[in-house]
Amino acid sequence: MSVGVSHWTNPLRDPRDRRLPRVAGPCGLVIFGVTGDLSRKKLMPAVYDLANRGLLPPGFALVGFARRDWANEDFADVVHDAVKAHSRTPFRESVWNQLAEGCRFVPGELGDDAAFARLRETVDELDRERGTRGNHAFYLSVPPKLFPGTVHELQTSGLAEASDGGWRRVVVEKPFGHDLASARELNRIVGAVFKPDSVFRIDHYLGKETVQNILALRFANEMFEPIWNRNYVDNVQITMAEDIGIGGRAGYYDGIGAARDVIQNHLLQLLALVAMEEPISFDARDLRLEKEKVLSAVKLPARLDLHTARGQYAAGWQGGVQVGGYLQEEGIAKTSTTETYAAIELGVDTRRWAGVPFFLRTGKRLARRVTEIALELHRAPHLPFAETATEELGQNAIVIRVQPDEGVTVRFGSKVPGTAMEVRDVNMDFAYGESFTEASPEAYERLLLDVLLGDPPLFPRHEEVELSWQILDPIEQHWAASGKPEPYASGGWGPDSAAQMLARTGRTWRRP
Ligand code: BG6
Repeated sequence: MSVGVSHWTNPLRDPRDRRLPRVAGPCGLVIFGVTGDLSRKKLMPAVYDLANRGLLPPGFALVGFARRDWANEDFADVVHDAVKAHSRTPFRESVWNQLAEGCRFVPGELGDDAAFARLRETVDELDRERGTRGNHAFYLSVPPKLFPGTVHELQTSGLAEASDGGWRRVVVEKPFGHDLASARELNRIVGAVFKPDSVFRIDHYLGKETVQNILALRFANEMFEPIWNRNYVDNVQITMAEDIGIGGRAGYYDGIGAARDVIQNHLLQLLALVAMEEPISFDARDLRLEKEKVLSAVKLPARLDLHTARGQYAAGWQGGVQVGGYLQEEGIAKTSTTETYAAIELGVDTRRWAGVPFFLRTGKRLARRVTEIALELHRAPHLPFAETATEELGQNAIVIRVQPDEGVTVRFGSKVPGTAMEVRDVNMDFAYGESFTEASPEAYERLLLDVLLGDPPLFPRHEEVELSWQILDPIEQHWAASGKPEPYASGGWGPDSAAQMLARTGRTWRRP
């Protein structure tokens, strides 16, 4: 007897039940640059965590490609160590054993036809042996200068081409170019080989739970949106502060700097989510459209010298330890003018935001690691209290705490207990850790799963990338022409010029 699909209701598959986990279908993931930091610290652990949560298909395959003389077993050992050291969820032998069975390694150089032919054989073999059914994602975890050659090899080896109903996707890590022209060129190269819906550009900030929560906070509630505009908001401060230096990443970081590394992607994406209008749905198309509209409305200040700041960390004290400056880091030239701190003021020319400054800042070796978005509201137009009673009253604020202490804070004035009518700032906090029992997945877990599912909303498309470079290019050109970044002491809050930049507008940076 055949059962019509429309009459067949499995309670476990009721589409109304949104809590159902989304499980990837048969597929494999090929990582280029598998020996790098990103791969060991983020990608391999994320693959394991997904497997551990039951979100990968049983025959899932993980293929490493690199210039190493490894057998499959050696590669599996490397993955094993990375998983043990960095995965989020507990190690379970049974999960690991199943994952290890699908680990393959292809030794070779990028640009070597024979190596790509071997990769193709491996992928075909996986389709036969592990039932990956021609579905493969290629993750380019390699320096940007190697993107074009790798994409070209994927094409000429036939790996980019899907057959028999399978799919091929390419995952590109930032930076997407180093300016508008190179981003366009990169897009042209990738676009000549992969269709737009097969290209996944990773901005890992979009995979963070707290970043996705910006949309929930704004569009699932009635209490925030009415005040989310110029009538109530005085300024917006988006901060991504790190307490670490550049570590072993001199080769990548020098010449790129803080603005290209972080502002062009993570911080402008945060700005877009905070400032955009409500999308008609959370479909990739609708969401990206609203983000693009807001990025197109971003205006640079007329005087870049007064409304931007950049710095480079000098020696100092961090967490009780004496640390050297950027110019003393291994692999950095003593004359390097790369900035490790960048702050810029932007406007958003829309009815909602006209006149509201958006201050973006990021830096390494700052006092603490914190990422937050703060909307500071106007002061009350009139305070019926004695002046001395409101000395400790600041501006009301809504703060989205992206990390490390994920949550939302609302700051407002409250009466201090006692007989006098004294008013002081207090905080009302929502903390993820207290409200939810389940821990947040890592950003890479979410994004890798979305790649394997072919779900695009959390990946910027090339229009957004180009708009972001359009914003940053004039600032970079201004900085390139204006000499060295200002040194700032490690362990502090950045260069004096950044403080002055806000002081000129009568404001101060928040001390998160
Ligand atoms: C990366 C930058 O995109 O983000 C790094 O290249 C930075 O320089 C990192 O350290 C920070 O990520 P997170 O998730 O720790 O805030």
